[in-house]
Amino acid sequence: MTVKEALAARRSMRAFKNQPVEREKLRAILEASLKTPSWANSQPWQIVVAEGAALERVRAGYAKCYADGVPASPEVARPDKWPEACKERQRGLYPAMLRDCGDAAGQFGALNQRMFDAPCVIFLCMDTMLGHWSLYDLGAFSQSVMLAAVEEGLDTIPAITLVNYPEVLRRELKIPENTKIAIGIAIGYVDEDNAINNFRSDRTPLDDITVFCS
Ligand SMILES: Cc1cc2nc3c(=O)[nH]c(=O)nc-3n(C[C@H](O)[C@H](O)[C@H](O)COP(=O)(O)O)c2cc1C
Repeated sequence: MTVKEALAARRSMRAFKNQPVEREKLRAILEASLKTPSWANSQPWQIVVAEGAALERVRAGYAKCYADGVPASPEVARPDKWPEACKERQRGLYPAMLRDCGDAAGQFGALNQRMFDAPCVIFLCMDTMLGHWSLYDLGAFSQSVMLAAVEEGLDTIPAITLVNYPEVLRRELKIPENTKIAIGIAIGYVDEDNAINNFRSDRTPLDDITVFCS
């Protein structure tokens, strides 16, 4: 598989089978991702892999938060402003999901709340003293993980909803206070029977977003 083939094959999946991910595959994905570049080779990423009983405790903790109406409080805050071009693309997301998935699109919220029923979630964290550039490095690390997963026959989704309740993650996964929980990547074997996974997101054409200056 070439890098371009992996880039083309990767897409976010929102429903996974109840099938554990082999530890050696997880290790191979994370080992490969260690090659991700970072500011002055600072390698700011700290990785917490949740699976099995630990992930079930997190899922139960999240379910209670949702049931109690606890507001989500991810530690990297959701943006409150977007430029119009981004807003327009965001507005296109749900109609495109309806187009590809039909009624299954209606499970979007519930599957997000259930952490996509994934057997494993990789949480990317960093020291709380770090800033935007380290977050950039974590973003690059995320893509490395998601591409390496494709090669291992696994699917992924990066999701802010996976980090909605940091206090639950801290409690169940023993994440210290000086560690910011940036993003979660759910990983597993895709549930091909769930039509929500039929979704193919659109892209703005290259020439609309690129200027070649020579
Ligand atoms: C930082 C980030 C946060 C995201 N959060 C969510 C989320 O909370 N729930 C969700 O269903 N998808 C989430 N996504 C997935 C995006 O919706 C998805 O990447 C985008 O629509 C493009 O689709 P693709 O990944 O299939 O190419 C997130 C993606 C990123 C990069």
